[in-house]
Formats: sequence, C-alpha cells, structure tokens
Amino acid sequence: MGLLPSSLLEPKSAYFGKNGVWEQPQSPHMNKPVLLTGMRPTSHLHIGNLFGALKPLVEYQGKYQTFLMVADIHALTTMEETKKIKENTLDIIMLYLASGVDSKKVTLFVQSAIPEQVALSTLFGMIVPKSMLELNPVYKEMIADHPKATNLGLLAYPVLQAADILAYKAGLVPVGKDQLPHLELTREIARRFNTRFGKTFPEPESKLQKDIKILSLQDPKKKMSKSHGAPTQIGVHDTPEQIRKKIKTAVTDSGSEVLYYPEKKPAVANLMMIMHLAGGKSLKDIEKEFQGKGYGDFKNAVAESLIEYLVPIQENYKKLSKDKKYIEKLLEDGNKKARKIAEATYIEAKNKIGLL
Ligand code: ADP
Ligand code: TRP
Repeated sequence: MGLLPSSLLEPKSAYFGKNGVWEQPQSPHMNKPVLLTGMRPTSHLHIGNLFGALKPLVEYQGKYQTFLMVADIHALTTMEETKKIKENTLDIIMLYLASGVDSKKVTLFVQSAIPEQVALSTLFGMIVPKSMLELNPVYKEMIADHPKATNLGLLAYPVLQAADILAYKAGLVPVGKDQLPHLELTREIARRFNTRFGKTFPEPESKLQKDIKILSLQDPKKKMSKSHGAPTQIGVHDTPEQIRKKIKTAVTDSGSEVLYYPEKKPAVANLMMIMHLAGGKSLKDIEKEFQGKGYGDFKNAVAESLIEYLVPIQENYKKLSKDKKYIEKLLEDGNKKARKIAEATYIEAKNKIGLL
C-alpha cells in the first residue's frame, strides 16, 4: 500500500474544464492550481497532525502551487497564554521542512505578516450576515471547549479563514472534516462577493483527509488531539523512551489477536494504522506478522517502527533549529512572496467594490 495519496480525495472535475484547464478565477501570479492550508500554533504537534495533515502535503508540493501558512492570529482566539506562540510558529515551520516539505516548491508564511489578509477579511465582514457566523457549528464547539473565549475574533474566525484562502485565490484546501463548515462559509463569501461585485474569487474545495484519523491512545472513541492529556497522544518530539512507554500503556481491545477491525477493535486498529503509516507495511502484512503472538510483541513493534519513522524527522528538526538565520530568511522570503499576491488581491477587491 502506498503511503497516503490514495486516501485523499482528488479535486472534483468542476474545477477543470473539458481540456483539463483550471477554470476558477486565479491570481495572475500563479501558473498552477493553488493549494493552501494553515495550522494554528496553539501547542506542539502530535503524530495525528503529522500523519493527517503534514505528510500528505509533501505529496502535493510539485503538483500544485502550494502555500503553507501558520495561522498565528487565529491562535489568539482561544489562547489565554500567548508566550509560546512564536516558538510554536517556528516549530510548525521547522516540522514542515523536517518532514519533507521542499521550501523551493512551497511558500511558507505566517498569517500575521500579511496585513492584507486581515484587511480583506474586514471587507468580507461587510457581506457576511452575523447570524451565519452565530450558527457556525465549529463556533459552537469552540465556545463549548473554551467558555472564556467570548471575543469577536472567535465569531469572525471563518471570515479571516476565508480571507486567508481567497487572498491567494486558492481552489484547493486540505483540511480535516471538522473544518468543512469553514470551507462552506468561504464558498458562500466568494459567491456573495462575485455576485455583488463581479467574478473575482474561486469557490474553493476541501481536500479531505479522508480516512486518516489517529485515535487517542487511552480512549479510541476520541481522536488524538492537542487538547487531551499527554498519555493520550504521541508528540512529534517525544523521545524513544516516552514513545515506548505510551504505546505500552495504550489501551487495547478484548481478545489477543492483532486484527484490523476498526469497529470491533478500534484500539488495536489504531495501533496497526500507526505502524502502517510509520513503517509502510500493509495492514494485511501486519496481521500476518502477529498471528498467534500477543499484544506485547505487537506493541513493541509499533513503538519501534514509530521511533524509526520519527527519529530522522527529529534529527532534521534539530539541525534546522540550530540554523535560526536560515529559517528567518526563509520566512522573510515566503512572507514577501505571499504578501505581494495578497496585496494584489486586496487592491482588486477594493477596486471592484468601488473604494478609492
Ligand atoms: P488538534 O485537534 O490536535 O488541535 P488541529 O485541529 O489543530 O488538531 O488540526 C490540525 C491538523 O491536523 C488538521 O488538518 C487536522 O485534520 C489534523 N489532525 C488533527 N488531529 C488529527 C488526528 N488525530 N488524526 C489525523 N489528523 C489529525
Ligand atoms: N482553522 C484551521 C484549523 O483549525 C486553520 C486555518 C486557518 C486554515 N486558516 C486556514 C486552514 C486556511 C486552511 C486554510 O485547522
């Protein structure tokens, strides 16, 4: 089984005309369909983020004009403590690079470095009914998770996200399922703008991370998440000892066979998936390998294959973190390139509306 590409939905043909030509409005700065995604620097990443979000991007980078953004302004909506935001931002950038993102093919940038995105979101704010934002299911969930987050920024979250995407006229946006309402709102904003002021923006599609969902090691009913406690997740910076301990203490299912039955044996299936994604062995081969052996041997093997997968990424990361100047220069270049495009789009939007 190849690593990941088949598990991602291909873009729907609506975006490509009969001759396979991209038909959505596109920035004149682009010569390929534009793909953009972002991640909030709210804390260090775990292997769910790595397998579900970071690794698939490596597959896209030659095929699309790819923009990877760290959504640091969005992080402010729910972060009570912002001391670590800079460190976490650099962490994501370095992890992108350490896990195979090629800075020559991809534009890496930081949301707060592009004021035109914020300005564009203000313009979008004028065409979005407040009620649409209040009904946003992601908003409702976030408010439930962060009762203290009563800020306007959280309500307006999808408006800024629409500006993130549309500033680059991105047509493809890889996100987890939880983000689909935000994509729908982005399309709604693009439609409203186009109808009122003339065709300007594409209606972007999500590129769903279809079946990659790493589950909590302690409760396989939940996904692995930053917001759950340490033993439930494996951080990408965890040491081999920590990884061995966490896998060893991960919950398993009744019986002792290593079989891939996500419904009946979700905990074992999750560990098998981790081993498959880390080591490249097929799920069938993993079943065969552990036929007649207990969970103990299996868990050791899961831990070792994950360690083998993470160690080179961690080593790359370590090297990169010693060269802060290189990272700073890379971001300076990425921010500059992104800003030029966002500025052109903002001016176009302003002109279409009729502002001076
Ligand atoms: P978290 O729930 O840990 O806060 P985010 O919501 O910030 O994660 O997600 C960042 C990216 O990582 C998204 O694209 C999301 O789909 C992906 N992702 C998060 N958790 C998982 C997981 N457990 N399995 C697969 N992908 C995940
Ligand atoms: N809201 C996204 C998340 O929590 C992060 C994000 C911000 C994003 N802006 C974006 C994702 C633009 C895709 C495109 O995961």
